[in-house]
Amino acid sequence: MASQVQDGLIETAKRVLPGGTFGNLPGDVVIREGRGGRVSDEDGKEYVDFLLGSGPMLVGHAHPEVTAAAQARVAQGTTFFANNRWGIELAEAIVAAVPCAQQVRFVSTGSEADLYAMRAARAFTKRDKILKFEGGYHGMSDYSLMSLAPKRSANFPGAVPDSAGIPRSLRDEMLVAPFNDIAVVESLIREHRDELAGVIVEPFQRIIPPAPGFLAALRRITAENGVPLIFDEVVTGFRLAYGGAQEYYGVEPDLCTLGKVIGGGFPLAAISGKAEIMAHFDRNAVGEDAFLMQIGTLSGNPVAASAGLATLEILRRPGAYEQIHATGRELMSMLAQLLREAGIAAQVVGEPPLFDVVFSAEPVTDYRGMLKNDMTMVRRFNALLRERGILKGEQKYYVSLAHTADDVRHTRDAWASAIKALKA
Ligand SMILES: Cc1ncc(COP(=O)(O)O)c(C=O)c1O
Repeated sequence: MASQVQDGLIETAKRVLPGGTFGNLPGDVVIREGRGGRVSDEDGKEYVDFLLGSGPMLVGHAHPEVTAAAQARVAQGTTFFANNRWGIELAEAIVAAVPCAQQVRFVSTGSEADLYAMRAARAFTKRDKILKFEGGYHGMSDYSLMSLAPKRSANFPGAVPDSAGIPRSLRDEMLVAPFNDIAVVESLIREHRDELAGVIVEPFQRIIPPAPGFLAALRRITAENGVPLIFDEVVTGFRLAYGGAQEYYGVEPDLCTLGKVIGGGFPLAAISGKAEIMAHFDRNAVGEDAFLMQIGTLSGNPVAASAGLATLEILRRPGAYEQIHATGRELMSMLAQLLREAGIAAQVVGEPPLFDVVFSAEPVTDYRGMLKNDMTMVRRFNALLRERGILKGEQKYYVSLAHTADDVRHTRDAWASAIKALKA
């Protein structure tokens, strides 16, 4: 039953927000609070939450230790612009955890982190172009929003802008390659090596795992051609493993970007990597001409850094990643079995901390493979699940350390019932 509270807010949102939404999800659900692995909306309806705020809430909503850490900071002043202990300690924790991270520069969002990582690669190589992968997401900058979700396929390496308002001239600054196709990537890198400043990749692209050997080959080819390799670990950092995708898949890039988990639910992200590239953020180290300008009002914000530190402390405890992976594995195999039993042509794609169903029986290794996903089925299934108390993003289940056996049982029942309704 919709209450007047939620309906009233939805109506107000339609008046004061374009499209009635913050831009992230449709505005038809208004969340009031979250605890652990669940959230509730303004009508008091509870959901098992696989959205996790689009990923940051890996240890669960309102974790008492994260809350206490943030509250302690808030009481002592919320932002200083100057260096503060908590930001310094968080940078130290990142350097200790992430294989490629020798130094860290903080920003507030993953979009910024990716923008500056690409700028750092350009400053370091004194070249302009960046190669990205079709379907890879690197935030909202003009450079990143190329061939994320192209409506029409261009021939590789042509880039297709995803948004109105992107200068035409920038199209030529980006080269696009198919994920998991190392032969095409290798020939593009060799052909463009003299103008290529870097390769940026989601090591686990959206929900598509890298093919065996793909990341290692990408590492070898970029190194052979003197092209810095950037892992966008905004999603995978501290999620697939404590050291991120580079630890999980055993391949070390030159730079990586981090976000989501490291801010503990507050706005914080980072660029990190090899000291010789990070040196470009330091005028004294590289001189005026090679200096990369980068500042931000809230960069290294102490409240966000404290929440991030508390989150990392929880994740370092023995068994944390085993638990996240065990929950994810159980959910993935349950969902696959229910779909199989129902005779639906579908597969569960991803890694245990992050996966979804793809309504297609054909193997999915790249963006074009993902286009075979029956999006009508996806939306119907998600809507049926929403009715049954499951909240998720359109094409992702994020698993949390806080999801309990009871949450898993509830999810299984919701899946079984929604799959029945899908077939009806
Ligand atoms: C892989 C990846 N990179 C970058 C971003 C952008 O991060 P933010 O939304 O903090 O700007 C996201 C956000 O979902 C992401 O998934």
